[in-house]
This record gives sequence, C-alpha cells and structure tokens, in this order.
Amino acid sequence: MLALLTCLALVAWGAAEVFNRQALAWAERDVVMRARLVASAVAPSLLHGDGKDAQRQLDAMVRDERLMGAALCLPDGRQEAASDGFPAAHGCATLPAAALQAGEPGWDRSVLGPAGALHLTALPVSDGRRAPRLLLLVHDMSYVDRRAATTRRYTFLAFALVGLLGAVAAGLVARLSWISWTTQLRKVLLSPFRSSAAKAPRRFQPLLSDVRDLVSTLAAEEARAESGWTPERLKQVLRSQLGGEAILVVANREPYIHERDPAGLGGVRVVHPASGLVTALEPVMRACSGTWLAHGSGSADFDVVDARDHVRVPPDRPTYDLRRLRLTPEEERGYYYGFSNEGLWALCHSAHTRPEFRSGDWEQYQLVNRRFAEAVAQEAGAPDPIVLVQDYHFALLPRYLRELLPRATILTFWHIPWPSAERFGICPWEREILDGLLGSSIVGFHTQAHCNNFLESVDRYLESRLDRERSSVVQGGRETLVRAYPISIDWPSRLADGTAPAAECRAAVRRELGLPEDALLGVGVDRLDYTKGIEERLLAVERLLERHPRFQGRFWFLQVAAPSRSTIEAYRALAERVEALAARINERIGRDGWRPIILARRHHEPPAIFRLYRAADLCYVSSLHDGMNLVAKEFVAARDDLRGVLVLSRFTGAARELTEALIVNPYDIDASAGALAAALDMSPAEQGERMRSMRGLVAELNVYRWAGKMLLDATRARRKERLATRLGGAPWSAS
Ligand code: F6P
Repeated sequence: MLALLTCLALVAWGAAEVFNRQALAWAERDVVMRARLVASAVAPSLLHGDGKDAQRQLDAMVRDERLMGAALCLPDGRQEAASDGFPAAHGCATLPAAALQAGEPGWDRSVLGPAGALHLTALPVSDGRRAPRLLLLVHDMSYVDRRAATTRRYTFLAFALVGLLGAVAAGLVARLSWISWTTQLRKVLLSPFRSSAAKAPRRFQPLLSDVRDLVSTLAAEEARAESGWTPERLKQVLRSQLGGEAILVVANREPYIHERDPAGLGGVRVVHPASGLVTALEPVMRACSGTWLAHGSGSADFDVVDARDHVRVPPDRPTYDLRRLRLTPEEERGYYYGFSNEGLWALCHSAHTRPEFRSGDWEQYQLVNRRFAEAVAQEAGAPDPIVLVQDYHFALLPRYLRELLPRATILTFWHIPWPSAERFGICPWEREILDGLLGSSIVGFHTQAHCNNFLESVDRYLESRLDRERSSVVQGGRETLVRAYPISIDWPSRLADGTAPAAECRAAVRRELGLPEDALLGVGVDRLDYTKGIEERLLAVERLLERHPRFQGRFWFLQVAAPSRSTIEAYRALAERVEALAARINERIGRDGWRPIILARRHHEPPAIFRLYRAADLCYVSSLHDGMNLVAKEFVAARDDLRGVLVLSRFTGAARELTEALIVNPYDIDASAGALAAALDMSPAEQGERMRSMRGLVAELNVYRWAGKMLLDATRARRKERLATRLGGAPWSAS
C-alpha cells in the first residue's frame, strides 16, 4: 500500500507539473499577444502628445488588474514616461541591450518579483514621424502560480480518488477470485485424493504435490507415534502438546495402601495392591506427575495424609500426589461391592455369574461418583484440566464433572470388557450409565470389539447421532470419541534390575517351595476372581497329569491367588471351591509326598511375583473373559532369559497381541491340558523364538504408548474444542 501510494503521489505530482508548465507557457503567450494588441492600439496616441499625455495614457492602461506597470522607453534606455507605481526594479534602465535593440516582434521575458512571477514585454511603437520608442509592459503573473497550486491540489485529489476506487475494485476482484479459487481447491481436495490429483486443473497441480508431501509427512509422524514410547517421550508430549499440564487420575483403587502393622506394634507398612489398573497407570503417573484421586482403603491411610488428605508417592521417590477420599461403610458397600462389583463387573464379564442390581446400591454409586467429581473439581488448577477417569466404578463421573468443569478434557478408560448391547440392557440404569460416560471427551476400551459393543449400546438405548466413520457419538451438540487403546505395562520393567537373573530365581524359588532342583514349575497369578478361570486352570493341570503321566512327580503348579472382594458371596464361594478343588486334585493324583497343586492364597508384593515369573517353566492365564490381562505381559517382561512358555486364554485382550503364546479355550479342559503338555515339551529354541517375538511386541506396545496415544488424541480434541469456542460455536459441537 505504501509503495502504491508513493507511486500515485509521484504520478500526481508529475502530471500537475507538466500541466502547470504548459499552462504557464500558454499564459505567457497570451500576455505577449495581449501586449502587442495594446501596443498597436495605443501607439499613435501615445507618441502624439507630450510627456504628460503619455503618462496619462500609461496610467489608464494599468487599470487592467493584470497589468502592473507600463513605461515608454527611449532607444538608449532612458525612461520617457511611466505609469504611476511602475516597479522601479524593472524599469527601462534595467532592459538588456537585446531588448532595446529588438525590432518587431519585440522582446519578452519572465522574471520573479517580490510578490510572485512577472512577465516583461518590450514592444517597439512608432508613429512614423518621431524616433521609435519601446513600450515596456509589466504583467503580474502570480495568478498563474495560484492556478498551478489549485491545479496541483485537484490533481492530487483526483489521483487519490482514482487510487481509492482502484483499490476497492481490485480488492473486490481479489476477494471474488479468492473465493472461487478456494472453492475449487476445496472441491479438488475433498474428492478422493487419487482421482482428484488426476482431474485437478493444471494450476492446482503444484499445490496438490505439496499436499501429498504434507500427507506423507503426517503419515510418517503418525507412524512415529506408533513406536519408541518411553517415559521421557511421554513427558515430552505432555510438555509440548499439553503445555506441561498436570494430570488428574481418578481410580477407585489407590496405587499405595498404608496398612497398620497386623502385629499391633504401631508400625505402618505400604502395600502394592494386586490390580492391573495400578500396574499400568502407576508408571504413567511417575512419568507425568499430577494427582491420583482414589478411595483411601488402607487402615493407616489417613494417618499419613496432610490436611488436604494428600500424600506424596511413591514413598521411596515421591513424584506425584495421592489424594485419598474417605468412604463410609455404607458408601463402600453400595458403590464398590454392590453396584460396581456385583452389578457392573458381573454384567460386563461373560463368566456366568448373575449380575445383581439393587436400587440402594445405585443410589450410593451416584452419590460416590458425585463426591469424586467434586473432589476432581477441587483439585483442578484450571478450568480445563486433563482428567483420566478409570474404570467401571466411575461411569457417571464424566457427566457430573462436565457439569462442574465444562471445558475439562475427560478421558475415560474402561478396563473391563463392554458386553453386547442386548446383555447391557440387563442393567436397569443403562441410559444413565451411557449418558454418564458420554460426558467424556474420549471413551477408551482395550479392543475394537468392545468399542463396537459400546456404540451399539448407545445406538440402542440413547437419542444420539453415531458417526461410525469417526467412531464417535454426538449427543446434545457434543462429540465423544470412542477409541481402542490396548493397555500395557512399563518397559523395561522397573523390577527387572532389582531381581536376580532367571537361573538364580529358578533355584531359589524351588528351594523355598521345597521342590527338587529339576522340578518343572507352572504358575498362575490372579486375584481370586471368578472371571480368571482358576477352577478350569486347575482342572486342566489335573487332566495334563492324567493324560501325560510322565509329568507326575516332576511337575508342580503354583497358583498365587490374591484375596479380592471377599465380602461378596460369589467371591467367598469361589475361594472355597478353589481350595477344595486343589485339595481334591492333590489327594487324587498326588503320591509319595508329591502334591502337584500349590495354592498360595495371600497377597504377594510385585517383586515376589516377578521372581516367580522368572522361575517358572510356564505361565497359564486362563481367564474366562478379560479386558486385557496384564499378567500375560508381565510374564513376558520378566523373561529376559528368553525361556518359559505362555499359555493364554483366547478370551483375553492380550491374546490379540501375544499371538506367539499357546492360545487356548480354557473351557476346553482336554485341549488346555494338551497345550500345557506342549509347553512343557517345547524345545529351548522354540521357547526363545516365541519369547523374543512377544518381548519385542510388549516393548513396542508399552504403557507409555497407551497413555501417549490417548493424550495425543486428547490434545487434538482439546484443540478442536478451543477452536470451536473461539469461533463462537458451541464449545463441544462436532464438525
Ligand atoms: O480389571 C478391572 C480392574 O480394575 C483391574 O484393573 C484390576 O486388576 C481389578 O479390577 C482390581 O479390582 P479391585 O480394585 O476391586 O481390587
């Protein structure tokens, strides 16, 4: 614009200059002609009289406003007569010789007077009798300057106007052509990429090749997002994508439980709960820091918290906060044991235990969800925190939290399977549960099959719009993405460094269990839960020993069963059945002091479990239905000696990833026994090959990737929400 204005000003100035010069030339010519006319008209009478007459006539002449003075000069430059007030500076004496001697047509010149330009004209006048004289006329030309100034002003104005109109017209043309260009370009870009490239007008070709480059760069970045996840990279994602914001995790189970010393000596010990959720999420929180909100379930939990019920954890190297919430026995009974575990747990697992739904439990479930939502809002340091909601204990919390913090980014992860829509309809509050979850920005499951079941349930029970292509639900103008994020464990495991090598663990564990050095050992590690297929597992071991007597006296199976939810009747009954089954098998098959089933019904700390994994020849995971099952991945992570065989139920999410395990149907006792035999007979080379492949996969698909991918998706959702808010749309409206 500056360049344009300068050019226009220069052109206007040039044009005015040319015009003024021309106007001056014309004015001078007019003056000379006028002077000649005057001279020829007055000459006879001027020379006829005496000096006084001449004076009078000259005075009469200068009545003309443009004529400033008139004088009659003698050929030698003396002045014979002059009008009154004749400008002395330009009198006869000042005339050059050329003027005095000029014959026809006379002499003229422009000069600068004190009040502006003057034009001098000297014209010969003669009456034929006397010697010729010169009539000297002085014209005032200052009006030409005034006209020039006016002309210049109008020229500038005219150019400014033309410039303005030109700019407006050019802007309009540019806008219209931009609209048409972008419309065409959008059409080209929105049509399927390959065909668009072929049909696109030539002017778009260079741009399309840029777009192609961009797409492949993004694809490469996407591919990079799939691999190489470490705690550092997760931290970096948090810093670069989410401005280093602290994360809030809400989970019923706390990562560290403080228990009073059972001996009653006043000491406090820290217990690490047996929980897949904790196994996965704890390393993520170590990397990200932030606050974990959970039910304070330990007997000494509130002895060690501060005034805000916070305690820094991990106890040995604090990096994040644990905020504990107290639940009354009534709340715990209704919300945790009742609705969560007798209702939703049984509903979501196809393990033949009838779900129990009681309205009293439902009330407690709503109440506790609301209490946790309020606690999250208290902990949030900003109106738009990132909140990771964990599991079936908090299906309503996302909606409650959305009401309190409409701009929060809420990622809800459902750690257990999601049943078919038909089965989900068993829940009397199916709409409320779905609506609660749809308060989330993203709802995550372990597998695509669970995502599909969830979408089907929403479709069947709620008024909403499903976008199957984006795998999302739009409800009340707000979009919730539904995505599969297969959960995992940290890699390399923190426990690896502190645990003895496999050979040492092998010898030590056999010694502790009182087994011979060359004993074959299988392990099963679970909470004592009816979904884990512990009975089917023990039956498969029994069948193995029956069908393959060569293993009798040589093979032991150690079942670690951490007590869980033991106030629920189904769990109590299971514990009794498992105990009885182990005793029966040992009774029936055992001999000479060999008792094949070792049942360890107590809590084991993670390092002890890690040692067992390293000591075992096989690990059998026989879940009847399981979201992921991290025991399978932990076993693989422990086996850096590339030995040991994983026998894995096909009803776990892990079976989709760990395909080099021996995959079994745990209900098929004969086939499972066959797989156990194959595991015990497997050559070290084959064990190594299978283990190497599974370890590569767990290393790649570790828990940092799980969290990182969720957070990256959250970042995108967050940007979209912020953009929509800035553009004035509903903050959550879907595009
Ligand atoms: O599978 C769901 C889950 O939350 C797991 O993450 C965990 O292993 C288990 O349930 C823990 O159960 P609880 O917290 O009731 O002991």
